[in-house]
Amino acid sequence: MEFYTTHLAGLTSYLINSEICVNLTIAKVLKMGKQKIKVAILGVGNCASSFVQGIHYYTNSDKEDGLISDVIGGYKVSDIEVVAAYDINKSKVGKDLGDAIFSEPNNTIKFFEVPKTGVIVEPGVAKDGVGKFTKDIIEKVSDNDNFETSLLNSGAEILINLLPVGSDDAVKFYAQAAINTKIGFINCIPVFIARDSNWYEKFKDNGVPLIGDDIKSQVGATIVHRVLAQLFSDRGVKLKNTYQLNVGGNMDFLNMLEEDRLETKRTSKTSSVTSVANKGQGIEPDNVRIGPSDYVKWLEDRKKAFIRLEGESFGGAPLNIEVQLEVWDSPNSAGVTIDAVRYMKFFKDKNDFESLDLVSAWLMKAPAKSEKDGDVLMKLHDLTHIDK
Ligand SMILES: NC(=O)c1ccc[n+]([C@@H]2O[C@H](COP(=O)([O-])OP(=O)(O)OC[C@H]3O[C@@H](n4cnc5c(N)ncnc54)[C@H](O)[C@@H]3O)[C@@H](O)[C@H]2O)c1
Repeated sequence: MEFYTTHLAGLTSYLINSEICVNLTIAKVLKMGKQKIKVAILGVGNCASSFVQGIHYYTNSDKEDGLISDVIGGYKVSDIEVVAAYDINKSKVGKDLGDAIFSEPNNTIKFFEVPKTGVIVEPGVAKDGVGKFTKDIIEKVSDNDNFETSLLNSGAEILINLLPVGSDDAVKFYAQAAINTKIGFINCIPVFIARDSNWYEKFKDNGVPLIGDDIKSQVGATIVHRVLAQLFSDRGVKLKNTYQLNVGGNMDFLNMLEEDRLETKRTSKTSSVTSVANKGQGIEPDNVRIGPSDYVKWLEDRKKAFIRLEGESFGGAPLNIEVQLEVWDSPNSAGVTIDAVRYMKFFKDKNDFESLDLVSAWLMKAPAKSEKDGDVLMKLHDLTHIDK
């Protein structure tokens, strides 16, 4: 804001003096480009690693491959800047973000050598961020007593939540901090904030932008399964039974061995598929099983999904589809998180909070309001398209 204010003030005085000077000042503003979108990250795990690597990767090349959208509302990936990051693991806190993202137990693919960023990972507030299966791997540091002050001082306008599944108390603490500091909140994990009407209203009443819950991967098990369920529905095939069994070898899968932490993850993944099944009528709970199924350490951050749909087509004839998907889990989520950030910035600046619900419907597994993928993408494209 400061940048524009300064230049607009300059512009006014030039106006009095000469039209040429006005044109020069406008050209300078355009040349220097937009302000950066300043974000803070909660949880410097694999997803954060891919997110940070991705910003550097696309900033350092003209490539558009691998992106859903090269530009959203005028913003490129290179317009995103991480200004703060928080974790609770001694292996990451106190390190430069460029080093912390490659520190153990992170084990996702390294596709860009991130230089020193100047952002030092600060302690967060642990609460229930560490589960039964990760407690021997994560060495906790002391809690940050001044989290909100640190967040405010960072200049971040968006806070991205990438905590482990089941961190209910921690997520609620950070969501409240986002409200208190009026910083937009993108909830990439399946602790229900956007889907919880109390939290949803709290954000709305306080004029704080919210996108959530639980990021859909770019081409992950959920979207593949959802597209197939939609296909059955659109082509009149009754979906009778279905499963999606997922295995992987990252900390997320280790943590999700704890079934108690997993309830919302199952609900989120299941509802993303059943909400489009059988023309929106869904499927009997006994006939659907979706969720993380085991931890296979040697897979590291690769995930395998086994998906089966059993249907009934014309005249009751059986029709079955079986699919296997293998993918690096974390880049798959980061490719969507970078879109969420740019959509939030665009709609926040237009004070259009309603459209953020469309963004959640497009990018999240458990949005407050569900919509058909094709419809919502068209609407978002129309809303964010800027003529050159
Ligand atoms: N494709 C995907 O990978 C994908 C898709 C959808 C959702 N998600 C969700 O994104 C989240 C992050 O996934 P990940 O693979 O990066 O997990 P991860 O376990 O690698 O990273 C989580 C990080 O959070 C830190 N942490 C724990 N408690 C904390 C607290 N209270 N404050 C600050 N930091 C804390 C941990 O130390 C760790 O560094 C998970 O909940 C996952 O389910 C991932």
